[in-house]
Amino acid sequence: MKRVLLIIGGGIAAYKCLDLIRRLRERGHHVRCVMTKATQEFVTPLSVGAISNEPVATDLFDLDAEREIGHIRMAREADLVVVAPATADLLARMAQGHANDLATAVLLATRATVLAAPAMNPAMWSHAATRRNVRQLETDGVKFIGPNTGEMAEAGEAGVGRMAEVAELVERIETLLAGDDETGRGLGFITVSSKRERAVAPLPLAGRHVLVTSGPTHEPIDPVRYIANRSSGKQGHAIAAAARRLGARVTLISGPVQIPDPEGVEVRHVETAREMLEAVEAALPADVAIFAAAVADWRVATPGRGKLKKAAGAAPPQLELVENPDILRTVAKRGARRPELVIGFAAETQTVVENAQGKRKSKGVDWIVANDVSEESGVFGGERNRVHLVTASGVEDWPDMSKDEVADVLLRRVSAYLAESRESV
Ligand code: PMT
Repeated sequence: MKRVLLIIGGGIAAYKCLDLIRRLRERGHHVRCVMTKATQEFVTPLSVGAISNEPVATDLFDLDAEREIGHIRMAREADLVVVAPATADLLARMAQGHANDLATAVLLATRATVLAAPAMNPAMWSHAATRRNVRQLETDGVKFIGPNTGEMAEAGEAGVGRMAEVAELVERIETLLAGDDETGRGLGFITVSSKRERAVAPLPLAGRHVLVTSGPTHEPIDPVRYIANRSSGKQGHAIAAAARRLGARVTLISGPVQIPDPEGVEVRHVETAREMLEAVEAALPADVAIFAAAVADWRVATPGRGKLKKAAGAAPPQLELVENPDILRTVAKRGARRPELVIGFAAETQTVVENAQGKRKSKGVDWIVANDVSEESGVFGGERNRVHLVTASGVEDWPDMSKDEVADVLLRRVSAYLAESRESV
């Protein structure tokens, strides 16, 4: 019998904990629960106590409970501490090392592995503060499961933020209790903790080189004018940052953008498609190449050496266009030094998925991330994206998410793909 200490956070997903307790007890585990003040707005200590068949601890200053067990002992006796749902507030307090209520005091006092199952609104999950807190907790040895992508409790909201399902939680808890958990799953899960000792395990993309293209290209007409498009680089840069968070060495080849370089990433700034191709070739070999740049399909055959002059009464200049090299196709179809996984984007305004499927085949790409870039979608330059992942096995329609979330989910898929292909070798 193992002792699981379940800290139930104050979120709508708290109700799932009743089922979680039941499933853990069915497997013979002893489950002791701690509830915060906020949790009691969602489920009652009475129902949690009845299902766990144990008194529920709610108050740091409850003399009876302290006499009976004491929060330090409760923290020490657990084989595993599970925080579910781990709300944004609870994660923030954990990251800061607060100990002003029973839940945080126990978390600070425990030497057991801590598994957090975040659940919150997608905007809160993708907020810089939450990301910072998750990174800190990962560094501190906390393990994470989820959150998953899907519908939220708030009507019409979807994205990354749903708490992991009970079955997933039970499976992960069993693995942790068995001491078999080597790698993390979900969005963060970087560290491995044994029962008494915490050691930093490699991040899922550690040792991998990920190459990303991002932003538009500028194709000169003359020294002062150019052909461009509306790409801001937000999606590509988010992908580079997500790959870095998972431990990859990342090379980002960026067209001209107004956003800062992601931290910890090697960035090469280029202007034209031909410069981008050259920089991509120079950055190879890579394990994964992700082409999110909006590369101009054409360039002006002979850009003016000096500024093209407007002469009174003269006809406007005729621009002769020639095709630019297709960087994605060049890399995907190369024999030597082809990355193991080549991912293109497809920017479409109609029949998005069908066109993307065609591009996947014609360019020889493994996966295509298709997005609707019609004016109404607001994807070019915007903060959000709704993509379809097109692979050889079919099409997945992902919900509307922030570009950071799209990047996180995509890189999680990349990590899983590489891990599977490594296992099958
Ligand atoms: O930058 P944001 O404002 O955040 O917007 C994000 C985005 C809309 C630019 C991004 O999500 C996206 O869709 N990027 C791909 C844009 C594009 O050029 O799509 P395409 O369907 O024209 O090209 C297909 C693929 O071939 C792309 O991976 C592209 O990078 C690549 N390509 C295209 C032409 C070319 N000459 N070389 C290429 O490598």
